[in-house]
Amino acid sequence: MTAKKGKAIIDRDYAISEIDPRLYGGFIEHMGRCVYGGIYDPQHAQADENGFRTDVAALVKDLNVPVIRYPGGNFVSGFRWEDSVGPKAERPVRMDAAWKSIETNEVGLHEFTDWADRIGSEVMMAVNLGTRGVEAAAQLMEYCNVAGGTALSELRRSHGRQEPYAYKVWCLGNEMDGPWQICNKSAEEYGTLARETAKVLKRIDPSVQLVACGSSSLKLPTFPEWDATVLDLCYDEVDYLSVHMYIDNAENDLDNFLVKGISMNRYIDSIVAACDFIRAKKRSGKTIMLSFDEWNVVPSTWKTNNAEPWIIGPALCEGEYSMADAVVFGNMLISLIKRSDRIKIGCLAQLVNVFGPIMTIPGAEAWKQTVYYPYLHASMYGRGTAVPVQLHVPEISTKDFAGAPLADAVAVHDTDTGEVTIFTVNRSASLELELSYELRGFVSLEFCEHVALSHGEAHACNSPGHSDNIVPRIQNTYEVKNNQFTATLAPVSWNVLRLKPREAQAFVEEG
Ligand code: AHR
Repeated sequence: MTAKKGKAIIDRDYAISEIDPRLYGGFIEHMGRCVYGGIYDPQHAQADENGFRTDVAALVKDLNVPVIRYPGGNFVSGFRWEDSVGPKAERPVRMDAAWKSIETNEVGLHEFTDWADRIGSEVMMAVNLGTRGVEAAAQLMEYCNVAGGTALSELRRSHGRQEPYAYKVWCLGNEMDGPWQICNKSAEEYGTLARETAKVLKRIDPSVQLVACGSSSLKLPTFPEWDATVLDLCYDEVDYLSVHMYIDNAENDLDNFLVKGISMNRYIDSIVAACDFIRAKKRSGKTIMLSFDEWNVVPSTWKTNNAEPWIIGPALCEGEYSMADAVVFGNMLISLIKRSDRIKIGCLAQLVNVFGPIMTIPGAEAWKQTVYYPYLHASMYGRGTAVPVQLHVPEISTKDFAGAPLADAVAVHDTDTGEVTIFTVNRSASLELELSYELRGFVSLEFCEHVALSHGEAHACNSPGHSDNIVPRIQNTYEVKNNQFTATLAPVSWNVLRLKPREAQAFVEEG
């Protein structure tokens, strides 16, 4: 295979930002088989005494997910939180109109938070601003975040939880711009409701951070006007604007799909521009940060069980992720890290079964999709300071993108250990890329490892019983001279290139 050549320059002086660990968050919704039949399955041989699958919990724990958004998603817009607390036997079985499913409330707020605690994740709570409003949101916060001495905080204590949950981040509804949302609203209606809800929530617990709903898709005609209008109404009361994006290959056009990360960068730039436009309009000294609290690739093979409504845990939005999907997914992670100056929270939607990196087979094993690995690598090695990678690589023109670079990359510098990790995707469907990296402004580095995810067939997937079809492999070791080395990147590949300070030299950070 003839390789195309390129150059990548990483200059520490141009560092982007400290990465907020919450960038590697996740999302678990009462939807499909994410909770029922996913993390929770009391009949399973590996279920713990609370009915949660220990094998699934272990896979999530390995991902080291700092924060998990809960309980929805579209589900939250019809959710009555009171149904999900108190003695299990007395909890009502409800019709969840968002997903036309049966919600038993077997897993509620206490059970979910205990599970999240066990795997070391914080809960990012969402309130219902669809069928409900300020009063229910305020009551939920009193139940969760107030120590005691009031009706609802004492009710929580009577349910067995003495200390407040003290959730730090709260979402003011979900995708309220979407016509599919229960009680979808105009930007003016939602912005006003978000402001009034925020005022009350911050009076109850001034320490919380609040997320207003931004655009849920760049395909909606209301984007980006929605974002500016909403923020104009609640700028002073909220801390974050949410952004959602799912990238798909609906057109079945591999070249075009592989470079679709570009649209995410443009989307982020536009939302940041909308935030800063309102900052300027208000002459405000405050900067709104982004909570990218739903992002993922939609696997080409995805299916949804619409045929069987009103059951518990229907198989919704499930599919096998291909090698190409993993590259686009890795590219989305690169986009998040590149804008870590403004994106402080990211939530992979979702963690289990529903567009999940982790899949479960009823009564049998849990298995890892291709996309599990870029997420794992980013969470493991993507903590520290983000540093841009200036790329000079060949370009390709596709249906939607003229002059798209064949690669995308970002570096992360761990200033505690001196290690540098460079995440790079080769977005070419057929060409190998020989990339010469040059690192400037770092101590003398040596090569640690090149971990790559690739496969000769872009559409190949992992599947039940064949979950080791595509797994990360250690590639070559490269000689580093003057902090320069050249790596060979396979077509359609996700690459993690790790360097560390030379052993001979004691690592001393110059402050
Ligand atoms: O993640 C699945 C769904 O996608 C969420 O419930 C919703 O917010 C989004 O449209």
